[in-house]
Amino acid sequence: MVGDYRSYLRKLPKVELHCHVEGTLRPATVVELAGKHSIRLPTTEVDQIYRYDTIYEFLEIYKTVNSTVIDRDDFARMAYETLEDGVRLGNLKYREMFFNPTLHTARGIPMATVMDGLVDGIRAAEHDLGVRCALIADVYRQDPPEVARRMVEEVLEHRRPELIGLGMDAAEAPDPPEKFVEAYRVAKAGGLRLTSHCAEDGPAKNVTTCLDLLGCERLDHGYHALEDPAVVARCIDQGVTFTVCPTSTAVVYGWPDLTTHPITRMIEAGMSVMLNSDDPTMFHTDIGNEYAEFCAQNDYPPGLVRRLVMQGVEAAWLDDSDKAAMRRAFEAEIDELDREFGI
Ligand code: HPA
Ligand code: ZN
Repeated sequence: MVGDYRSYLRKLPKVELHCHVEGTLRPATVVELAGKHSIRLPTTEVDQIYRYDTIYEFLEIYKTVNSTVIDRDDFARMAYETLEDGVRLGNLKYREMFFNPTLHTARGIPMATVMDGLVDGIRAAEHDLGVRCALIADVYRQDPPEVARRMVEEVLEHRRPELIGLGMDAAEAPDPPEKFVEAYRVAKAGGLRLTSHCAEDGPAKNVTTCLDLLGCERLDHGYHALEDPAVVARCIDQGVTFTVCPTSTAVVYGWPDLTTHPITRMIEAGMSVMLNSDDPTMFHTDIGNEYAEFCAQNDYPPGLVRRLVMQGVEAAWLDDSDKAAMRRAFEAEIDELDREFGI
């Protein structure tokens, strides 16, 4: 091997399918936006903004930080900067990115402002950097079911070509997936693809609910699926891909050792997984770091890493010809990197 394995891992081309735009704000941008809109933050110490020990504390900060994102330009800036970070730090090529519409509409921001701003940022990033990005609107689980259903109707009314799917996030344990059957039904009828955070801090049976009742095609996190061998077997059989996040879950669920993280057992069990940064700036990580640390600390060989990268391409909601082109481009770029690094 020529050079360092971590820099090889960072340089691999990447797809990311589990990243919340609201969890990507650079701390310096939060401080600037707070100044622009005269908003008081709990602290203006840039490196103190993102500190918490549980998913509940995390969700509080997530809301506070997002109160600084108000006009169309702010949403555009948030989307642009995170794509720029993904390209610079992890050779990101394509992302399907979550946003939480009701986090913004509940504080009086029109849906059109949110979606138009995000789309402006995405298009500018593609123009300047070549990175592509689509959007997945997320149900916020602590919202009532009728608020979630109305959110889906509203995103469909303001639909932009970049909007391709519906997902669901926030705290899983208190609000199980069956609460949102109606929102998912409306999304499916509107032609959206479907995913959901599940078995993150909820039980394995939530996987079954998300697949059977909500109609999800892939799933986000899924660690507690390991507690039910029948669920694991079914997901392998059906080829369900899990979008997993080493660093964010290491922090809030207490799996600090990446060599014993449940993701390693999901891979050993033969489940289809691909790596993601979740809320990168909020967890002091980035998509390059997720590959570098998780794969290097686990001594994963290049062949296994290539499989993880390519599972991202396969699980993306691209049409067949687009996916075939991306597959070829990724294989060629990885071959080239293998030669460069003497792998
Ligand atoms: N889980 C739950 N809620 C979230 C997450 C997550 O990974 N990211 C942002 N909100
Ligand atoms: Zn997430």
